[in-house]
Amino acid sequence: METALTVVILAAGLGTRMKSRKAKVLHQAGGKALIEHVVGTALRLAPAERIFAVVGHQAEEVRAAVRTPGIGFIHQAEQKGTGHALMVGREALEPLGGLLLILYGDCPMIPGALLRDLVAAQHGSDTAATLLTSVLPDPTGYGRVLRDARGSVVGVVEQRAATPAQLAIREANMGIYCFQSDLFFRHLGELGCDNPAREYYLTDMIEILSRTGHMIAGMQTDDPRPVLGINNRVELAEADTFFRQRKVRELMLAGVTIQKPETVTVDLDVEIGADTILGPFTQILGRTVIGENCRVGACSIIQDSELDQDVEIGPFTIVNTSRLERGAHAGPYSRLRMENHVGPGAHIGNFVELKKARVGAGSKAMHLTYLGDAVLGSRVNVGAGTITCNYDGVAKHPTRIGDGVFVGSNSSLVAPLEIGEGAYLAAGSVITEPVPPGALALGRARQVVKPGWTPKRKKG
Ligand code: UD1
Ligand code: CA
Repeated sequence: METALTVVILAAGLGTRMKSRKAKVLHQAGGKALIEHVVGTALRLAPAERIFAVVGHQAEEVRAAVRTPGIGFIHQAEQKGTGHALMVGREALEPLGGLLLILYGDCPMIPGALLRDLVAAQHGSDTAATLLTSVLPDPTGYGRVLRDARGSVVGVVEQRAATPAQLAIREANMGIYCFQSDLFFRHLGELGCDNPAREYYLTDMIEILSRTGHMIAGMQTDDPRPVLGINNRVELAEADTFFRQRKVRELMLAGVTIQKPETVTVDLDVEIGADTILGPFTQILGRTVIGENCRVGACSIIQDSELDQDVEIGPFTIVNTSRLERGAHAGPYSRLRMENHVGPGAHIGNFVELKKARVGAGSKAMHLTYLGDAVLGSRVNVGAGTITCNYDGVAKHPTRIGDGVFVGSNSSLVAPLEIGEGAYLAAGSVITEPVPPGALALGRARQVVKPGWTPKRKKG
């Protein structure tokens, strides 16, 4: 495309109908802020340096939610309408020339291909603008598209300013426009705020351009669903469902088995390899990457984690910011709290919590255990009920356990502590001193047996 394209995303409003303290574009659908979706789509059409977001309400938070570097921000301190947003941006935008694509930050589902068509339609014509419209069964709340006797677009009238005859029009303005930048800015100063809302309506530019002798094209879309803006939490939930269904469908077509897909939540940036099986009610979130041939059991939650291939996660297991190597197992009912590394073929069982733990190849902690700030070598066997006492009330301390160590059940390992390779810790021990390689350590009271004690007590 020779004519350069600039994309402006309007995102300064609060969004009153969300009934929230949080700006509308910060609300999430499909695991991402609404503004992030729109920025992601814009990036498919223009380089970051030519993408601008108009921010106002909670500007700092909105800037932070846009994680793509290089996006420009325009500050609209007071929100006096969609047209006013462009007036504020004039200085940054006008010199760029070319075509100006205007999107709303609360319209996250808009497909990139549709925008490309819109831009191409405008590019290939001598009209002043092309706007996206759709004939809706119920256009309440939308601006209505006014056409003259020949069918040319001559204006957009907002719901609040429309006459009863205009309200009967079902062709709605979708809020997506491509303008010839020079014409747009030449006439922008003519925008007024003589309407019930006392706002500068961007939509009035259509009428202004038409009145000054320019042609405006309307591009109708038959599928308005992905173009609908989000105004309240019902629509937010619908958008969330839209993204989730699309993601789950893409994964299934790419070879992932998803049981009861309507119950499964997968964030949009997640990657999953073929032949992996997700059980019902699983949630795979954030930047998780799952390899091939894994299994994630029902109701498990995996967030910002990496699973190599052939990993098995049992039901009701929570994995956060952790990595599991090939053939590792976790669950059912395990919690890998943060920054854990589970080696190949290692096994983490039920009611086991890991925090900042490294578990070497083939090691096992099968039942009722807490391993925190711990490094375990390979082939370690951790008995049921083992606890690393990593916190002394002030600071956290590390525990190191060498290859092939056997930790007897119900042991307390008081950190800092080092257990040498091949050592044995007797069941029920409280281990406070380092154990050299190959040693047996016992740290418990010796058992006392008093024969005939019970009958004597009863007589007494
Ligand atoms: C707008 C259109 C309407 C269209 C509808 C489609 C106008 C005047 N009306 O109405 O014709 O049918 O979208 O969804 O444009 N914003 C700013 N600064 C402001 C005001 C708004 O950045 O001063 C942003 C908002 O944050 C939002 C977007 O612009 O992301 C749209 O604003 P909103 O008030 O929701 O417009 P609608 O009433 O939906
Ligand atoms: Ca809106």
